Amino acid sequence: MAREVLEVLSPRPGTLQVDGTVGAGGHALLLAGSIGRTGHLVALDRDPEMLEQARRRLTEGLNEEERPKMTFAAQTYEQLPHVLREQADGRPADGVLLDLGVNSMQLDDPGRGFSFLREGPLDARFDRTAGGRTAADLLNTAPEKDIENWLRTYGDERHARRIARAVVRRRAEKPLHTTTELAELVRACYPPAQRHGRIDPATRTFQAVRIAVNDELGTVERGVKECLGVLAPGGTLAVLTFHSGEDRIVKHLFRSASTPPEEPDNPYSVRSEVEPDFELVSRKPLSPTTEEAERNPRARSARLRAIRRKEVRTDGG
Ligand SMILES: C[S@@+](CC[C@H](N)C(=O)[O-])C[C@H]1O[C@@H](n2cnc3c(N)ncnc32)[C@H](O)[C@@H]1O
Repeated sequence: MAREVLEVLSPRPGTLQVDGTVGAGGHALLLAGSIGRTGHLVALDRDPEMLEQARRRLTEGLNEEERPKMTFAAQTYEQLPHVLREQADGRPADGVLLDLGVNSMQLDDPGRGFSFLREGPLDARFDRTAGGRTAADLLNTAPEKDIENWLRTYGDERHARRIARAVVRRRAEKPLHTTTELAELVRACYPPAQRHGRIDPATRTFQAVRIAVNDELGTVERGVKECLGVLAPGGTLAVLTFHSGEDRIVKHLFRSASTPPEEPDNPYSVRSEVEPDFELVSRKPLSPTTEEAERNPRARSARLRAIRRKEVRTDGG
């Protein structure tokens, strides 16, 4: 949804634009190309390996005359205020993009343990340098009920209970270590007639485990608030989600930021007359065109929401 992202952010020359999840740098390249030499692009990725990819692509993809100032930080977007303080003299952002989830390069690398299609360690951490628990650590130690809840809420998995039980039974004999061990266990939990459909039965479990390993929903909740806080007057935050749970969180956060607060002492929950600082760019989220959804199956569940900090009024009103 690159066209839609550019439309809502409409990056002008000389502005400061943030790509909070730079990935392979596709969106960032478009942003950098629009803001020109006088602009500043700040690129973050929690995965230091992806950040390097982006740095290379952006440096090679733009010649020196058109290249803005560029800052790269291997950080989660929750740290954006800190990054702007350190790297941009605390300048507020004119645009912030979050394109959530996993990158196809991460999925394709068997060593990262994101995909059930290739044998690899059960890892699924975005940042392997920060320590943190791997997918194997979680699945081999978490209570059965927690595993079931992750599968149900993060993966919409119908057979959550059966799979959680199978994981616990299996680990009592031999802990799970590889992606293919987990994928085979999940497939065996599906009724035989449902094992060979268009979508592999392991898809939902792998998505759920990745979300749990990286606390992705908690990060959205905290991180979107941080990103709202750094927007300049007239600045826009655009969030692209691929998971209904993430989209729900963004929708609620945007709604409460763009609605007058409730009067604290009023028992009838009356809205105060204080003008909210933000306005929604569009009421409904933008979805991919049918053509894009056909071309790119990952785009099918994409939802783009955007919110803008209002300009400071100068008419005294
Ligand atoms: C869908 S990809 C972004 C693709 C990118 N827009 C492009 O055009 O190539 C999502 C990226 O977000 C990164 N990521 C995930 N959680 C993050 C977080 N909390 N903070 C920063 N980056 C994160 C992932 O490592 C991945 O590289």
